[in-house]
Amino acid sequence: MDASKSKNLCSCGCEIEPITFGQTQRFPQRCSECTRLKKIRDDHKQEAISLREKIERLLPPLYRGAHLRDLSRQLRARILKLPPTKGLLLYGPPGVGKTHTMCALMRLYRLKRLERFRIARFVYDDLCLEIRDTYRKGGSERELVKRCRDVDKLIIEDVGTTVGTGSQESDFSLRTLLLILDYRLEHCKPTFITSNKSVEELGKSFDERVASRLYQACEIIPVSGKDKRKRGPENFVEKS
Ligand SMILES: Nc1ncnc2c1ncn2[C@@H]1O[C@H](COP(=O)(O)OP(=O)(O)OP(=O)(O)O)[C@@H](O)[C@H]1O
Ligand SMILES: [Mg+2]
Ligand SMILES: [Zn+2]
Repeated sequence: MDASKSKNLCSCGCEIEPITFGQTQRFPQRCSECTRLKKIRDDHKQEAISLREKIERLLPPLYRGAHLRDLSRQLRARILKLPPTKGLLLYGPPGVGKTHTMCALMRLYRLKRLERFRIARFVYDDLCLEIRDTYRKGGSERELVKRCRDVDKLIIEDVGTTVGTGSQESDFSLRTLLLILDYRLEHCKPTFITSNKSVEELGKSFDERVASRLYQACEIIPVSGKDKRKRGPENFVEKS
């Protein structure tokens, strides 16, 4: 075989065109078509890596595998029908899959390439603690509240769950939730909430104004079933 010829052939069999630098010529590893295809493959790989990193930043490790296909057909259909400005309130007993469902939905939003949603997820009590902390340290509580207001999709987990049924939330907690809900409602930005309390119960522990806003801001879906933390295949949602 003629070695000088084989050097200028791409693995696909096409001839490789030389690149000229001043007086010298260099033969790239691939023909121009293979170079173009490799760039497309590399770009896709890079995009997949960056999406995986974004999902890892957004979702806690336990829920990174959460996927809409894990849900019952009915629940999946209701969630997929949500208008873009409507949020979701999932309520029910512990371990029935509220957080899993939210995380599956957020994975879907994150994967939507064209929309590039800004998404933030907080556990409500952590959020209140952080806001208080920044305030105490002389920072501005507004920054965190502003972040909750500005993102396209806001998830607030476990709203009202550390105060027992019938007990009152603090003024600070009420004010924080109202500030966030009001702004997001006025600006047609959806809020996604999980809670162990129904809207009526949240109305009692926060305030009627909170309940009223939740009715308007969210599609309200009760989630029932067995506690999936008590492992066993029969505990997972039937794919009806
Ligand atoms: N459909 C499902 N498929 C697979 N795993 C699930 C499913 N639903 C829930 N799980 C798993 O079961 C466990 C409990 O679910 P999850 O944390 O979503 O419950 P929860 O309703 O949010 O409970 P809590 O009210 O205590 O916050 C998690 O480890 C979760 O990943
Ligand atoms: Mg949860
Ligand atoms: Zn080639």
